[in-house]
Amino acid sequence: MYCTRGFAISIYMKLLVVQTNPEFGDKKTNLESIETLVGDRKADLIILPELCTTGYQFKNKKELDSLAESTQGPTCERLAKLSARTNSHVVAGFAEKDQGRLFNSSVLVGPDGVEGTYRKVHLFYKEKSLFHEGDLGFPVFRAGDARLGMMVCFDWIFPESARTLALKGAEIIAHPANLVLPHCQRAMITRALENHVFIATANRIGAEGRESEQLVFTGQSRVVAPSGKVLADGPREAQAVLEVNIDLKEARDKHITSKNHLFDDRRKGQYEI
Ligand code: ACM
Repeated sequence: MYCTRGFAISIYMKLLVVQTNPEFGDKKTNLESIETLVGDRKADLIILPELCTTGYQFKNKKELDSLAESTQGPTCERLAKLSARTNSHVVAGFAEKDQGRLFNSSVLVGPDGVEGTYRKVHLFYKEKSLFHEGDLGFPVFRAGDARLGMMVCFDWIFPESARTLALKGAEIIAHPANLVLPHCQRAMITRALENHVFIATANRIGAEGRESEQLVFTGQSRVVAPSGKVLADGPREAQAVLEVNIDLKEARDKHITSKNHLFDDRRKGQYEI
């Protein structure tokens, strides 16, 4: 477990959370639109939504397979160029193909390519008939000065996701999302507070109705501090870039009072799980 004792020093980082409205299946347009939204901003970490280059509602596995790529593919190459141009690490949700298997993944990309991959563990609704379940656990990576973990969308409703990342030392949880239920944004205040981590949810807007059912995505991307304070909120129906400065020091102190520590006070023997 990451050491949470002693004097923490301030380490400032700038986050950009990008809220997009992808065109289903048009990876080129969607990448251009992300690049335009980011513009000439510089940052330390850019967070993009789930499946941000393909869109969400695949009709079947064949269609998903035709749009999915490996982490060495052209989408991640282009995200590496965005990383280089902005001096920033980039977290992006994308459809990953690995040895014929399809994952709803999130990648951490630096200027030379992918530095970390997370594969969505908790698949939502019809994703269950399209994607393989994530098989990499909840890894924690370095992104500049920060220890960074990733969750993808529906992972939020399982507190174990954020807890596992926090216990493994994550200070920032990057959370690419395509949210359709109304609860996540409020729940992220609790997830951040109960783990003393920063959580940055990058959600999308718009609607997809490629089958009989129309899905409406809820926007309102959000960044929450370890104190539970909301640092930035996106609009409900427009594309947006949230710019937030954070101090990692806040995530390194796990005390709630001088006598209460979020991790040391856990009573594992009492939980019976
Ligand atoms: C979701 O997990 N995309 C709702």
